[in-house]
Amino acid sequence: MSGAALQPFGRAEAPVLAALHARAFAPEERWGEAAIRLMLGLDGGFGLLAGPAEAPLGFVLARAVAGEAEVLTLAVDPPAQGAGVGAALLRAALAEAARRGAACLFLEVSEANAPARALYARAGAAEVGRRRRYYSDGSDALVLRVSLS
Ligand SMILES: CC(C)(COP(=O)(O)OP(=O)(O)OC[C@H]1O[C@@H](n2cnc3c(N)ncnc32)[C@H](O)[C@@H]1OP(=O)(O)O)[C@@H](O)C(=O)NCCC(=O)NCCS
Repeated sequence: MSGAALQPFGRAEAPVLAALHARAFAPEERWGEAAIRLMLGLDGGFGLLAGPAEAPLGFVLARAVAGEAEVLTLAVDPPAQGAGVGAALLRAALAEAARRGAACLFLEVSEANAPARALYARAGAAEVGRRRRYYSDGSDALVLRVSLS
């Protein structure tokens, strides 16, 4: 890409983002419209999408509360993957979390998800925990932390 502009999104984009999420994730990991609206409405929740709001290339949903932030989900449409969109979204989420006063940001990722792990490692994420057999395929979840200060 990586020139696609990023912009905040709101509840109105939930349908198009749920469709994108369904293309990017396995069935048991998919988030529907209601989940996206719910996460966006959490205390400190925010969302950023890449590309045009009516046909986004990817999006990130995150929250920043009481000095800590977390990425709730990050998805890039499969045809747009590998072109820097995910890295741009992650960078923007880190910047927005810092702007909102977070000193660190947490991420959860399957140990089997090599692309996401590589992306997060490049952003400076360090493993701080592990949830055994967390995902439906039996893989562990790694809890990662990025320092924003
Ligand atoms: C993970 C995901 C968000 C990455 O987005 P992307 O736009 O494809 O990633 P980028 O093109 O920005 O790549 C950034 C870095 O990620 C890593 N990466 C991306 N795709 C990769 C792949 N297929 N294999 C290994 N590393 C990969 C690389 O380190 C890359 O840096 P480089 O291009 O300098 O080598 C995207 O693949 C996706 O939506 N996957 C399905 C959903 C998912 O797993 N979300 C994360 C859940 S925690």
